[in-house]
Amino acid sequence: MNMIEIPVKYLTILSKRAIINERCKMRIGLFDSGIGGLTVLKKLLKKYPQNDYIYYGDTLNVPYGNKSKKELLELAQRDIAFLLAKSVDLIIIACGTVSTNCLKELRKNYQIPLISIVEPTIDYLNSTNYRHIAVIATSATIDSHIFKNNLKSSVYEIKTPELVPIIESNNYDKLASTLEVYLKKYRYQLDALVLGCTHYPTIKEEIKHILNDNTKIIDMADYIEIANEGNGTLSIYFSKIDACIINNTQRIIDCPKKIIKVIDKAEN
Ligand code: DGL
Repeated sequence: MNMIEIPVKYLTILSKRAIINERCKMRIGLFDSGIGGLTVLKKLLKKYPQNDYIYYGDTLNVPYGNKSKKELLELAQRDIAFLLAKSVDLIIIACGTVSTNCLKELRKNYQIPLISIVEPTIDYLNSTNYRHIAVIATSATIDSHIFKNNLKSSVYEIKTPELVPIIESNNYDKLASTLEVYLKKYRYQLDALVLGCTHYPTIKEEIKHILNDNTKIIDMADYIEIANEGNGTLSIYFSKIDACIINNTQRIIDCPKKIIKVIDKAEN
């Protein structure tokens, strides 16, 4: 996997697993197809409240998980352009689908450091003794086979395309039965289950309920590391906004409504 170049001004030491910035506050951009990446933002805000965070959810185009690589690349470039216009120092691709399908091309196109949500998880898993790992993710992520091709353990790849629409719509009537269909047969087989889509930590408890207690649930956001100091601010943007998106955002990130904004069409 590629190393990421970080501007020298941030005194950065970088490994595949971690970004370590010393005594510098950064402007960190994150993007996803919708509210999913907020689960990543939430963890970073808690662990590293010092940075300025600018989040962008492309709710006009969600879901990304069933799109072609060409479409994903186009959308990701627009998402990145939006964040670059906000003068961010680095961008976290808080979307499994873009991280698994477009990373190489995007890194070729941009000088700014692009942090994949997936690479640190793969490195972490390869440092464990888990022998049977399942990945649940969007169709596009599973079709990339990135986990299967890079993990040393046996990997079960499970497409779970119905989960993002359930989470984005905030209508959970069919969640339990949908999860049963996807996961029941793996109940006693797994050492770990990777939530390969950043929307899925919002339904972690329901997923745990189906699996046995010994299965470790892997939230990819836990393996991104940034260390620095300062006093941070937070801005959250969407390409489309409605009451459901605002409710979902406030459910995931306990934030004032006024920081949740819709982008001006001219901005993207
Ligand atoms: N949250 C995203 C991911 O991690 C995108 C899901 C989607 O829009 O289908 O894959």
